[in-house]
Formats: sequence, structure tokens, C-alpha cells
Amino acid sequence: MILVCGGAGYIGSHMCRLLRQKGIPHVALDNLERGHEEALPGTPLLRADLRDPAALESIFAEHAFTTVMHFAAYIEVGESTKNPAGFWENNVHAVWNLLEAMRRHGLNQFVFSSTAAVYGEPERVPIPEDHPKNPTSPYGNTKLTVERMLGDYSDTYGLRSVCLRYFNACGSDPDGILGEAHDPETHLIPRVLLAAAGRGEVKVFGEDYNTPDGTCIRDYVHVCDLADAHLLAIRHLEGGGATDQYNLGSGTGFSVRQVIDAAKEVTGIDFPIGTAPRRAGDPARLIADSTKARTELGWNPLYTDVRTCVQHAWDWMLSHPNGYKS
Ligand SMILES: NC(=O)c1ccc[n+]([C@@H]2O[C@H](COP(=O)([O-])OP(=O)(O)OC[C@H]3O[C@@H](n4cnc5c(N)ncnc54)[C@H](O)[C@@H]3O)[C@@H](O)[C@H]2O)c1
Repeated sequence: MILVCGGAGYIGSHMCRLLRQKGIPHVALDNLERGHEEALPGTPLLRADLRDPAALESIFAEHAFTTVMHFAAYIEVGESTKNPAGFWENNVHAVWNLLEAMRRHGLNQFVFSSTAAVYGEPERVPIPEDHPKNPTSPYGNTKLTVERMLGDYSDTYGLRSVCLRYFNACGSDPDGILGEAHDPETHLIPRVLLAAAGRGEVKVFGEDYNTPDGTCIRDYVHVCDLADAHLLAIRHLEGGGATDQYNLGSGTGFSVRQVIDAAKEVTGIDFPIGTAPRRAGDPARLIADSTKARTELGWNPLYTDVRTCVQHAWDWMLSHPNGYKS
């Protein structure tokens, strides 16, 4: 039985969908602070908060878990600069609660949602796993701290883990049942699509970067490809594999302008786009070197064209104009 913490969120719900499709027993744990019960059709939900050790203890006493997956975090870089205390509590202390519950119950397999933010401003692209780690935000600091905590728990207690460093997660399940529903939404693709739908405006921050069209380039990785990588990480741990870290990205960069153009093509709507100066701390290019995940885990992402990601996100938005409340 797999425990999916943060299973009602964007990426966790796609993970639960894949586990359902594969017939793998699992339960989701979520406090629903930022997740959606409707995103878990067919997956049992334990409503609990990882910051509550007593709740964790009773859940671990009742269920015989084999592997724990951790998606449950605060995710916004900007929010982390305003509320670092909340981020350290939820993204680090709550993970420590979880690892301690695992230790008390003799569990030793953990899959962690890490991020490209652990690298900070890249010294070179594409970025391999051994690139220097210099996070530039409290969010990135909390994620790197958990990676280090997991290293210590592995060395000393034999609690093995896989850290998956996602680049820009995007898209939604091609069946159109699940989608991205953050509030407020800060990710580029859904924001651009909301602008196409006449429900918000989008600004390009900086058009003078050293890139072909002057706008920032990012590596977009489809949420279903992320879920596939997590399943491979579970297999790695079940096969006795060691603690390790892997980048997850498509390996191809798309500029902000290219994403906007793809959105105009997919939606057939020519919506207005604003411009603004560069934002502090936005690197020109962030592209993953995911060779290690491909060769060692056997990961083979299916949706590497940003247009397909935009299409899936648009399909979901059309069928769910008010998100999960539709
Ligand atoms: N979305 C991205 O592009 C991206 C990129 C890199 C890394 N990540 C990481 O992936 C993970 C999932 O991201 P997401 O986009 O699905 O986020 P999300 O906000 O959609 O999902 C997080 C879920 O965790 C739950 N949660 C948060 N704190 C909790 C707590 N204390 N107890 C119980 N439940 C709690 C929320 O209610 C929510 O359902 C995060 O750890 C994030 O840092 C995301």
C-alpha cells in the first residue's frame, strides 16, 4: 500500500490516477488546504495535516504502507519570500514528522518532489544533477534542506529515497478529468490560457534576455510524464535501489513567447499580452539534463512538445471553466 501525501493536489492527483490505472493499492493523504477532493475519483482520501504528528501516528498505526510519496508542500517562490516561517514549517518540519512516523513503523522507501529551484541561477545549461546547488529563495532552501535530511536518514537509518527534481510541470491528463487548479494561479501555461479565455491578463517579464526571441526559456514537463517517473522511482526502491536524485525535464526549452504563440494556435484566440521589465532572480534559461533519469530509471517522457501540453491544459479548462467546482 502506497501513501500519497498531497494526493489531492495537481501532481499528486495525476500520480493517484496512474496508480489507479495500474491497479496499485494506494491512499491519498491531504489536508485539502490547496487540493481538491474531486481530483481523487476512486482513490481513498485520508484528510490529515502532516504538521500534526498525532494524526500521522494514528494513520501509520492503522495502515501497512510500503512506500511513502511526498507531494505535500507550499510551492510558490514569491509566497515563500513573504512567509518563510510557514514554508519551513510545512516543507521541512512536516517532512521530518513524516520521516519519524516512517521510522517508528519500520518503513524505508520514500519518493520526494524536489525542484529545479535547488540549483538557483545556473552556471551552465542543460543542468545535470551534480550542478552546484545555490537556491535563491526560501522555497528552494526548504527543498534542498529536505534533500539533505533524506541523505542523512539514508546513511544512518537506511531509509532510502528518490528525490525527483521537476522543472516546469504542465499539462493535464489527456482524458480531461484532472487538471491544474492552483489559486492563485502563477504558472505560465494556465495563466496564458486564462488570458485567452478573457479571465485575466498576462505579462511578459523581460524581452531583452540573451535568447533568440529575448524572452526567458524554461523546460516544460508534462504532469503524466512526471507520474510515470514516480512509478519508476518506486520500482527502483522496491528493487533495492540506493538513495538518489534525478532531474525531470523534457530537455527542450521553450520561450515565454513560444508558449504564448502555442496558446494562440491551440485556442484560436488572439488575446492581448502585456510587457514588463525583468523580474529579479529570473534566469534566462532553465533546461534540465534528464539523461540520468532516462538511462538509470528507464524514463521515457511522451509529451515533450509544449503544444501538446498547452492543448491538454486547454481541453481541461474548456470542460472545467470553474476548475473542480465546475
Ligand atoms: N507544479 C510545479 O511546477 C512544481 C515544480 C517543481 C516541484 N514541484 C513540487 O511538486 C509538489 C506538488 O506540487 P503541486 O503543483 O501538485 O502542488 P499543489 O499545491 O497542487 O499540491 C500540494 C498538495 O499538498 C497538500 N498539502 C500541503 N501541505 C499539506 C500538509 N501540511 N498536510 C497535508 N496536505 C498538505 C495541498 O492541500 C495540496 O493538495 C510540491 O512539493 C512542489 O514543491 C512542483
